[in-house]
Amino acid sequence: MKILVIGANGQLGSDVVRAAERAGHQAVPFRGRHELDVTRAEEVSRALAAHRPDAVMNAAARCDVDACETDSARAWEVNALGARHVAQACRDQGSRLLHVSTDYVFSGDKDQPYVETDLPRPLNTYGITKLAGEHFALAYGGRTLVVRTSGLYGIQGSREKGGNFVETMVRLSAVRPEIRLACDQVLSPTSTRDLSETLLGLAGLDLCGVVHVCNRGACSWLEWATEIFRLLGRDVRACPVPLDSFGLQARRPRYSALESLVFPRIGIPPLPHWQDALARYLREARHLPDSVLHS
Ligand SMILES: NC(=O)c1ccc[n+]([C@@H]2O[C@H](COP(=O)([O-])OP(=O)(O)OC[C@H]3O[C@@H](n4cnc5c(N)ncnc54)[C@H](OP(=O)(O)O)[C@@H]3O)[C@@H](O)[C@H]2O)c1
Repeated sequence: MKILVIGANGQLGSDVVRAAERAGHQAVPFRGRHELDVTRAEEVSRALAAHRPDAVMNAAARCDVDACETDSARAWEVNALGARHVAQACRDQGSRLLHVSTDYVFSGDKDQPYVETDLPRPLNTYGITKLAGEHFALAYGGRTLVVRTSGLYGIQGSREKGGNFVETMVRLSAVRPEIRLACDQVLSPTSTRDLSETLLGLAGLDLCGVVHVCNRGACSWLEWATEIFRLLGRDVRACPVPLDSFGLQARRPRYSALESLVFPRIGIPPLPHWQDALARYLREARHLPDSVLHS
């Protein structure tokens, strides 16, 4: 399969390229807006016409949640209009589209995992623009699958946020005796390596619509960090604090763990539990400097 990856220098996109190459697919990576800017419809259309891919993974986004709140125009351009341009080009070329979206389309009022049939009600600009992007991807694309995920971490680190939560905890726990962590926001931490492999499997299916793909289980930021410290054998005090105490620009859903009703119906096994994925990530963390891991 020939797979064109948009946002290939991002945390998820870079793992999708690696997973595609491992599986023997032909990956065509576009590494960031300087190689292919999704806000420019003509540019997107030309790239797809030139490569005529079987499938397109749109992992490009503006995903710094607080930056989206202060610069909603750019968030709209990339997350919503960009999604529309990619979908239109996919429809024109007959390419399958996998469009990546987020748990932040939900309000967080539930206290059990959100499934595909739950009604989105985003609380912030990032979530609103991502939900608009989902609608554009489904409305304009041909064979579109919107894949919602949550709490990503991967070896590349997030372009926009600079790194990822796991590596921030690895770094901070080497130098601080205690760390303040939100205990009242729950999510599904997901390894981009596991997600990428599932995305590739989904690219080869006819499944269209919306699907939730995360590592299994859920935890708060506090529980996530505590597990990181445990796996690293670090004696750090994780201090529970409310999310509000961080004074963030954008409101966040209090609970945004995701589960899939679709996967069991079509016989796809769930992804590994988040604790298994995290342990694997830290075991394989050759990209982390020894001074960080062994201090
Ligand atoms: N990170 C999370 O925890 C999380 C959670 C749930 C869902 N998601 C979703 O997962 C996807 C991937 O996230 P990520 O963590 O991999 O983000 P990331 O590391 O910030 O990557 C975003 C990518 O988008 C590219 N990009 C930004 N503006 C662009 C534009 N105008 N045209 C083309 N490319 C552009 C960036 O490259 P340049 O900066 O070089 O342009 C980068 O390659 C996104 O759809 C996000 O909404 C993320």
